[in-house]
Amino acid sequence: MKAISLIFISLAVIATVNATCADANATAGQGGTCFCNAGYYGTSTDVSSGGSCKKCPTGATSPASTTSGTLKSSCTCIDTNAIPDITYTLCLCNDNYYGTPTSSGASGCTPCPTGSKSFAGSTTVTQCLCGDFNSVINDAKTACQCKANYYGTPTSSGPSGCTKCPTDTTSTIGTTALSSCACPDTNASLNTANPPVCQCKANFYGSPTSSGASGCTACPNGQIAPAGSSTNVCKVASTSSTYILPIVSLLFSLVMLI
Ligand SMILES: *[C@@H]1O[C@H](CO)[C@@H](O)[C@H](O)[C@H]1NC(C)=O
Ligand SMILES: *[C@@H]1O[C@H](CO)[C@@H](O)[C@H](O)[C@H]1NC(C)=O
Repeated sequence: MKAISLIFISLAVIATVNATCADANATAGQGGTCFCNAGYYGTSTDVSSGGSCKKCPTGATSPASTTSGTLKSSCTCIDTNAIPDITYTLCLCNDNYYGTPTSSGASGCTPCPTGSKSFAGSTTVTQCLCGDFNSVINDAKTACQCKANYYGTPTSSGPSGCTKCPTDTTSTIGTTALSSCACPDTNASLNTANPPVCQCKANFYGSPTSSGASGCTACPNGQIAPAGSSTNVCKVASTSSTYILPIVSLLFSLVMLI
């Protein structure tokens, strides 16, 4: 008797498990009710008449349901940096990422360079836009840097962190310091005035030109002049201050110690 009951129970279980669902994308679960398979969402025809299980967007999956209809939000993109598109047919790289989402392994969506942003669905780094309007993405595509002829550190929003180089001076992309804004005369550099102006570098004298040959003449060999010298004030470097004085001081200190 017991054995016969067991056989019947077993058959009933098998019948339940094997119950075919009208919805090909559903499988019978609790109480023989059909629920959506993994990778599908919605309600099967068996749970709600006329309902059906719809496929998650390409690149997204959902767990198999055994107790209730599967919510649309149960479909998650396999690429964790992606989101389903508005038509719910495929996955797109999320806001501030670019690329093509993958369906396995490493993400196909790369974060935008530091200081830049993009809209969901961006596929190339050129769609990442720097928050600082005076900055551009660097060659290595790693961060926004001040554009040519500007210097500083870009901000990600609000007022620009990049300032224009002083009149006539130039800079390459990524210049951070004012002192790196180059004077047209290669033997001149900016002084510390406000606003700074070009002056002859140390060991040169004269008036910088704005193009062509330098207006700054080098001091004769072995002679020095301070930066900003407009006339020939070149002179032989005094050795007393550079070498003798420290030696005298050292000897004096030693004598005092004894
Ligand atoms: C099951 O899903 C496939 C797509 O995966 C679809 O073509 C088919 O129409 C679905 N079947 C039903 C009964 O909805
Ligand atoms: C700057 O000075 C150096 C050294 O005297 C000289 O060789 C060079 O030609 C100068 N630069 C220009 C642009 O004249």
